[in-house]
Amino acid sequence: MKHKIIVTGGCGYIGSHTVIALMENDFEVIILDDLSNSNEQILDRITKITGRKPEFVKVDLKDLDHVHNVFGHFRDADAVIHFAAHKAVSESVQEPLKYYQNNLYSLINTLISQQENGIHNIIFSSSATVYGNPDTLPITEKNKTQRPFSPYGNTKKIAEEILEDVVLVSPDFSAISLRYFNPIGAHESGQIGEFPNGIPNNLMPYITQTAAGVREKLMVFGNDYPTKDGTPIRDYIHVVDLAEAHVLALKRLLNKEQESQLEIFNLGTGDGYSVLEVIQSFESVTGSKLNFEITGRRDGDVPKLFASTDLAKEKLGWSANRKLDEMISSSWKWEQNLREELI
Ligand code: UD1
Repeated sequence: MKHKIIVTGGCGYIGSHTVIALMENDFEVIILDDLSNSNEQILDRITKITGRKPEFVKVDLKDLDHVHNVFGHFRDADAVIHFAAHKAVSESVQEPLKYYQNNLYSLINTLISQQENGIHNIIFSSSATVYGNPDTLPITEKNKTQRPFSPYGNTKKIAEEILEDVVLVSPDFSAISLRYFNPIGAHESGQIGEFPNGIPNNLMPYITQTAAGVREKLMVFGNDYPTKDGTPIRDYIHVVDLAEAHVLALKRLLNKEQESQLEIFNLGTGDGYSVLEVIQSFESVTGSKLNFEITGRRDGDVPKLFASTDLAKEKLGWSANRKLDEMISSSWKWEQNLREELI
């Protein structure tokens, strides 16, 4: 019998790529999503790519009664992968309560409903933001966490602390928290990708929207950091590699291979690229010039972040396969398809 997996936020950027990877690995998927930053069309695209339609329920995870009801229908599920969250860093600074309410209630209601329905496994979508500005690089899972600069980031840190407390009193319960570095890229079909609401916060969608003529110019936030060319260094990871890591983490949970009830893994490539290197790569992959200007630093940015990938390799048997040029070409293909559709 196929394993049933509940995927919250399965219509979103990382969620939708993971749903495809799960279906390609013969899992049965139930997506719960409030469509606040996505739309139902994504389901048709997933169906086109995989040849099967995932089950879908529109649900606001802040509404405990509704969540409880929905989980009651799927009490034979084997695990939850919890992506559903708001993720715009600057908005979270402006509206902290919106972020604490949404991201934390959603997790808490999911955990309560899991417990009430005997669904003992969860994978949580965390972020390298929990490391703050690290003292040592590459960042291992043993690096100390710090209070993240933004309320968005802090919801990820608090969520991990909630999981720590829950497993302490729930001997049957198992959790894996995956700390993503900088996910970019899109599905090779060009059918699924990142579609930020409004003006993008993140580098790659800003680059592709500028190249597509939607934005006039990319502002590069600071070139006076202690890095090779003065711009900050990040560990960009292809979203499809990230999706595949979720499948392996899920198998580890279902096969009860864990060494502790809450395991934490970094998901990155281990390679760091500066903002200017990403721009140069974009220009060479696409053969076009990007309009950009160096401006002042953005609050909260740290000079360098890149992952140690050893633990994920050793325990999950996972490492990222796709290189920066593939991340960029797939992001660009997606952006171009999107513009054609919107015209
Ligand atoms: C950001 C968040 C992080 C979150 C992640 C999710 C901050 C401080 N951190 O990571 O908490 O988990 O997104 O994807 O916001 N850049 C520009 N111009 C732009 C946009 C970005 O120069 O228009 C630069 C940034 O200064 C940074 C690099 O590009 O050096 C990457 O930025 P971004 O894509 O926003 O990711 P992070 O800031 O690393």
